[in-house]
Amino acid sequence: MSGFDTTWLDLREPADHAARDHTLLNAARAHLRAGGASALAVDLGSGTGSTLRAFGPDGGTRWRLVDHDPRLLEAASARLAGFGVVERVEADLGALPPAILDGARLVTASALFDLVSRPVVERLAAVLAERRCALYAALNYDGRTNWDPPLEADPEMLAAFNAHQAGDKGLGPALGPGAADALRTTFEGHGYTVRVAPSPWRLGHESEALRDALLDGFAGAVRETGRVERAVLDRWTEARRERPGACHVGHWDVLTLPPGP
Ligand SMILES: C[S@@+](CC[C@H](N)C(=O)[O-])C[C@H]1O[C@@H](n2cnc3c(N)ncnc32)[C@H](O)[C@@H]1O
Repeated sequence: MSGFDTTWLDLREPADHAARDHTLLNAARAHLRAGGASALAVDLGSGTGSTLRAFGPDGGTRWRLVDHDPRLLEAASARLAGFGVVERVEADLGALPPAILDGARLVTASALFDLVSRPVVERLAAVLAERRCALYAALNYDGRTNWDPPLEADPEMLAAFNAHQAGDKGLGPALGPGAADALRTTFEGHGYTVRVAPSPWRLGHESEALRDALLDGFAGAVRETGRVERAVLDRWTEARRERPGACHVGHWDVLTLPPGP
């Protein structure tokens, strides 16, 4: 189980929505609508449906939310009142029955592909290419977490955090900061047109709760790696809590469109 909870997903959603590249989001929306009134979108690793809310309610479009965590799918119901036809499917992306993607015009995901391994992307790309289905994958972490004011231990902390990002999250060695690039090269290999755009978080005092939760998660991940001396980690965490300042987290959005008309 991934361990993502609704508190964290609810906390990050406003920052995610503000960060998404709106040109790519609009292009993904337009691609979906061009499929007609009953076009189907499948959101992978949907959590509680943040991507659907980013698209907005759209009479006619059908959505299928896919996640392996039944608690998140259950929580999605309450958060998607008024969104029309929304099907929820419990499934593991590591063994995704291709039939789940049947009929889809667009597959979406957010904050997902940095958790998965290259073979998962390759298998998905092959299945989507067979179906000439597009992919819109938002908010792929790119390895840059920069704090302001800077501290001497920042580079050591970031190196450990990024090493943790590349660990196995249940779907093989994670792509971590390499996710957007892996999506681009894999889909280009299938003849897709790929567009990428930055979608960074810029967290200051107005995002205090998210920034504090991010700091806790960041320090926890560094601790798990065992790469940073405990005293250094504790001093760094304490200094950050005393003067949290601002945090910039790099992400990229990716839109891949199949070849042909
Ligand atoms: C960072 S959360 C993002 C959730 C949602 N897309 C959002 O933006 O709020 C990652 C999601 O991927 C799901 N997930 C992780 N590993 C999975 C797997 N092996 N199969 C299906 N879903 C998975 C988690 O349950 C979680 O909902």
